[in-house]
Amino acid sequence: MPPPPNPTEIKVPKPSLPASIAKPPKPGTTSEPKTVGEHANKGGVSAVSWIDERMGQSTFLRGFMFRKVPRGTNWFYTLGSAAMFAFLAQAVTGVFLAMYYDPDTVNAYESVRHINDNVFLGELVHGMHKWGATVMTVLVFVHMARTFVFGAYKYPRELNWVIGVVLLMMTMLMGFSGYLLPFDQRSFWATVVGVNINGTGPIIGPYLADFLRAGTEFSATTLARFYAIHMLLIPGLIAALMGLHLYLVAKLGTTAPPWVKPKKEPKANQKRI
Ligand code: HEM
Repeated sequence: MPPPPNPTEIKVPKPSLPASIAKPPKPGTTSEPKTVGEHANKGGVSAVSWIDERMGQSTFLRGFMFRKVPRGTNWFYTLGSAAMFAFLAQAVTGVFLAMYYDPDTVNAYESVRHINDNVFLGELVHGMHKWGATVMTVLVFVHMARTFVFGAYKYPRELNWVIGVVLLMMTMLMGFSGYLLPFDQRSFWATVVGVNINGTGPIIGPYLADFLRAGTEFSATTLARFYAIHMLLIPGLIAALMGLHLYLVAKLGTTAPPWVKPKKEPKANQKRI
């Protein structure tokens, strides 16, 4: 065995710093963005940091975007987001339609015809809005069926189920109030029938019918009322309720599929054989 080295002769290596700190790059060299892509990337990062420094939302967003989901989460869990996307598409196409639509009994029908025949991409946007309404309704129903089958209405998510029921009613009301707006024979008479059905409801039925008609008879104000309900009242309510619905989803988490059994934890005082 050779003798151990003399402690005074042992060479202690100098603590090494990371290359970038030990030898920082000269200004205008490596760390500076060069290409357009790098500039865009850096610009995006600094813009987000600027906002975050003033709003401090990154902790919330990180918690919301990267929250854990239960084992077995599958495509059926995307139906709620699909319904939300359908609503957003309705909002965007609706804004463009509102730029040309005239909620006046004399001009309403002609303004819709003008959108379809003369406005650039008008027929496409109108068609997207019309068929999008059906898509949203179907998605909301299928999403409700998913939450029912997966037992997601049970404790502690009963309140979210109730908010969902109100969202379902609001979605149906959007379809009902929008149907009158083209103001052709079919939409007019279908609305007369719908409002009369509402009027037969117990206690509040007749008041509801009067509210929808803006009086005891159909008049020019009825169209304005339906337009206001369709454009402002219900979308506002849906947006607010959707926010609450999503807040509760983020807070409570989603329900695991019923066929996924929870992992068995070993009992603390169970003897191992
Ligand atoms: C505009 C309509 C609606 C939108 C945009 C919407 C959106 C969402 C989203 C994004 C989620 C989380 C992901 C998912 O589970 O799909 C969710 C969950 C949920 N929704 Fe909806 N929803 C709507 C209508 C409804 C309706 C009509 C009901 C039931 C009556 C409902 C009940 C629930 C419940 C109970 C959960 C929790 C699911 C779980 O814990 O697994 N929602 N919703």
